[in-house]
Amino acid sequence: MLDLLVTDANLPDGRTGVDIAVAGDRIREVRAGIAAGGATSAITIDAAGQLVTPPFVDAHFHMDATLSYGLPRINESGTLLEGIALWGELKPMLVQESIIGRALTYCDWAVANGLLAIRTHVDTCDPRLLAVEALLEVKRRVAPYLDLQLVAFPQDGILRYDPRADDPDCRDSALELLRKALDLGVDVVGGIPHFEPTTASGTESVRLLCEEAARRGLRVDMHCDETDDPMSRHIETLAFEARRLGLQGRVNGSHLTSMHSMDNYYVSKLIPLIAQAGVSAVANPLINITIQGRHDTYPRRRGMTRVPELLAAGVPVAFGHDCVMDPWYGLGSGDMLEVAHMGLHVAQMTSQAAMKQCFDAVTTTPAQILGLEHYGLEAGCRADFVLLQAADPVEAIRLRAARLAVVRAGRVIAQSAPRVSRLRLDGRPAEVRLTRHRPQPERP
Ligand code: FE2
Repeated sequence: MLDLLVTDANLPDGRTGVDIAVAGDRIREVRAGIAAGGATSAITIDAAGQLVTPPFVDAHFHMDATLSYGLPRINESGTLLEGIALWGELKPMLVQESIIGRALTYCDWAVANGLLAIRTHVDTCDPRLLAVEALLEVKRRVAPYLDLQLVAFPQDGILRYDPRADDPDCRDSALELLRKALDLGVDVVGGIPHFEPTTASGTESVRLLCEEAARRGLRVDMHCDETDDPMSRHIETLAFEARRLGLQGRVNGSHLTSMHSMDNYYVSKLIPLIAQAGVSAVANPLINITIQGRHDTYPRRRGMTRVPELLAAGVPVAFGHDCVMDPWYGLGSGDMLEVAHMGLHVAQMTSQAAMKQCFDAVTTTPAQILGLEHYGLEAGCRADFVLLQAADPVEAIRLRAARLAVVRAGRVIAQSAPRVSRLRLDGRPAEVRLTRHRPQPERP
């Protein structure tokens, strides 16, 4: 007797009519004909030819700032730098319970959207390490239903931020505060080289932080070159340090927006170096398209990194949400299909294969970047998956499809009603769903 059986599912790899058998918290079997073979289960879900996918994964988020939009004011210029300044105004007012409360609310939204793993940066430029302690508590509380991975993120720069500006009695440097966060249990080493005072100190910060990660056996995820400056080239240093320190496969460059504006000749050298170093990339399309290009008149640059070119070179590229209702971005809802939808448009990834890559960029690719274990729709994986009101990944992105059921460790933890509209039109159908429109051949 199974605990859960999903029948007649389409899978992201194109298989159709597949059954998924779950025993306890694990997937026991994935193949056609399990139900027809007489298997019985405590709970059966008929997928009815709709898509079952491994959960959505967000490789880049800021959970300490989320849902704070309007506190203490709104970002008027829409720039990264005003957002950082605004966060600096808010930080002294923060209390731990409010950070925890906002983060838990966001995790509720995430679960409703089938988003069950998030890598979030947490600001370490605070002598109190308030957000660090708050998000460690959130990580503990949500662990049964959501994998939260924390990145020690020195928002104001390890060589730029002086903790004594906030607490004259503080004896720690910004780097020492980051180390304390890692000591407390933060998982990944972050950085922000383009915000350090000079190009040289940005380079120095990449070296120091990668060495810190190598000493501790940790992964690296740096905000890197989040600027329209074509000369911001810290990704080159990040790739170099990843190779020098043997960190291949464990280092990620987030944003990389300067690559949008770089000289093509230089990029033709740079991308193979990134691939050789085993460094992955995360673009954040909703944020890049709204924050970059703010100093332009027209033509106005899109600012997102070169996603198709990185993918073609074999670099894993994920799409992250980055922000939801915070000092940098006033919209968002934890919907990774909305993120994929925007990424597809900004990168002009409109072929069938490229649209599928955009779906992978919010599921399997970020799972690989985070190093998630037991992720996927195979026997032995943890029974985490999402039933969507869509036939395939492209339709899922087109519709930002409803999450009909979200399963974690074999248990249904969220459900949504299908999206159906009732029509009151003579001679037309009574009900409209936006799925599965297949054009009929034209007849003369
Ligand atoms: Fe970010």
